[in-house]
Amino acid sequence: MELQIENVKKKYGDKTVLDIDSLKIETRKVTGIVGSNGSGKSTLLNIVAGLDDEHEGEVRYNGKKIDEEIRKDMTLVFQKAYLFRRTVYKNISYPLDIRGIEKEEIEKRVLKLLKILEIEDLKNKIGSKLSGGETQKVALARSLIFNPELLLLDEPTSNIDPEYIDHMERAILNYNRENKGTVVIVTHNIEQAERLCHNIIKLERGRVVE
Ligand SMILES: Nc1ncnc2c1ncn2[C@@H]1O[C@H](COP(=O)(O)OP(=O)(O)O)[C@@H](O)[C@H]1O
Ligand SMILES: [Mg+2]
Repeated sequence: MELQIENVKKKYGDKTVLDIDSLKIETRKVTGIVGSNGSGKSTLLNIVAGLDDEHEGEVRYNGKKIDEEIRKDMTLVFQKAYLFRRTVYKNISYPLDIRGIEKEEIEKRVLKLLKILEIEDLKNKIGSKLSGGETQKVALARSLIFNPELLLLDEPTSNIDPEYIDHMERAILNYNRENKGTVVIVTHNIEQAERLCHNIIKLERGRVVE
């Protein structure tokens, strides 16, 4: 079982920003993607998420091309996450609301995540008015709540105060352990990658390096 990236190339004009012959990411594991600014990390995540069709090559999940069906079961949390102009509770419950899950079950899951991330005090605040770090925490909760099969995180703790990083890492690890969800996490922070990841992939100028 794996996420398979084959001959994926991405260019902007004449500049090749991503050039991957073959890369396999194990499902049910936490895989880190590290590399300096501009090395192509976000470009790769966007392609895996199916948000960028203008590239060469192919991405397959368990042998299947990424299609609408798989997309329903995956989510990408952007580094600059976007929240709705509604309460934090509503922002987090949204993926369950649209899936028609029962109210009591929704409440149980939202409260559990608010607790794990220690953001209970944000529950009734308006999502679009939060700080960068608060926004990242709520965006993480919103992605974890529907137990996606594949979770793609683009520098999810870049705006988080050091004392809260631990909560976010715990929430990510919990999700991986409890739901056997596949996590691909882009991070600047090598120590974070080492704490969280079963495997680490390093990108340099768009290429995978050892
Ligand atoms: N829309 C765009 N137009 C032109 N160049 C882009 C665009 N988006 C990204 N790039 C370039 O592609 C390269 C890889 O970017 P990115 O994947 O965002 O890197 P990273 O996430 O590792 O910092 C960088 O050189 C960046 O400047
Ligand atoms: Mg990036």
